[in-house]
Amino acid sequence: MYLISSSDALEALDSWDDMSFDCCITDPPYGMGMEHWDYSVPTKELWQEVYRTLKPGAFLLSFCSPQLYHRMAVNVEDAGFEIKDQIMWMVTTKMPKTNRLKPAHEPIVVAQKPCEGSIEKNYAKYGVGKINIEDARVPWDGKPPTGWVAGGVKRRTFGKDGKTTGTQKEFGTKDANPKGRYPSNIVGEVQAPHQKYFYAPRATRKEKGDNNNHPTVKPVALMEWLVKIYCPEKGTILDPFCGSGTTGVAALPTERSFIGIEKEPEYVRIAEERCSVAEVPTEFTPLDFNTLQLN
Ligand SMILES: C[S@@+](CC[C@H](N)C(=O)[O-])C[C@H]1O[C@@H](n2cnc3c(N)ncnc32)[C@H](O)[C@@H]1O
Repeated sequence: MYLISSSDALEALDSWDDMSFDCCITDPPYGMGMEHWDYSVPTKELWQEVYRTLKPGAFLLSFCSPQLYHRMAVNVEDAGFEIKDQIMWMVTTKMPKTNRLKPAHEPIVVAQKPCEGSIEKNYAKYGVGKINIEDARVPWDGKPPTGWVAGGVKRRTFGKDGKTTGTQKEFGTKDANPKGRYPSNIVGEVQAPHQKYFYAPRATRKEKGDNNNHPTVKPVALMEWLVKIYCPEKGTILDPFCGSGTTGVAALPTERSFIGIEKEPEYVRIAEERCSVAEVPTEFTPLDFNTLQLN
């Protein structure tokens, strides 16, 4: 189920109750002046509203430009979030600019509203706070490896006296997870033969839709990968700068509800159109939006 509010983000968020959302994944203005709406990175006040409307332990992911990542991250941190990670999205389709190297990545700040108590206690109470690795593993090329030394290829024990490396015989063996490698915080397009370690999405014309003239559409596959890791199943994702609605297009088929906010009416129309055709599994029980409050 989805809802797109045609409004300014701060105004629309004001009408939502505390702890309404399970995750926020957004691609806000980068503050580069590339479009009339690209005036500055979101303010601390905006992130404070996102903080208020997220459940304790919920994750916030915000795309940034390489130049102004620090401003984005500081505002997120000053709003009360704990910075947890930086994901690097490698993207090789950008054009070089005067007096600069060719841009080939966009950072994503990964932050978390602090948990109430331990992660386990927080998860039991609110259903958020843990990331989901299992649906984001990188598949093995062939058969999953077996017979590793438990704890590492050549196990080393840090900070302990005595023997620090050992063999399978000494430490036992461990088989690889059959679902694939543990995913890393670099995602995107790299040169073969390393490509197999990194997920490589691209926004195709088909997935954007013929009538989508938004200049900064994100790839659905990338957004889906982030959604699966950071938003629990059946959870509700907020995107306060939703543009043409790609976060929603990724969220809806993965059994998450979507709340988008976008201030440009033309983009709201495109987001509505794209979300309305995003496939929703039939067994998914949508949220009852009559019980929720919005402008
Ligand atoms: C980088 S784009 C998002 C693109 C989106 N990820 C997609 O795939 O289509 C940022 C969007 O934020 C919107 N925006 C900028 N300031 C806003 C505000 N104060 N409130 C709501 N939306 C805003 C812009 O109109 C723009 O569409």
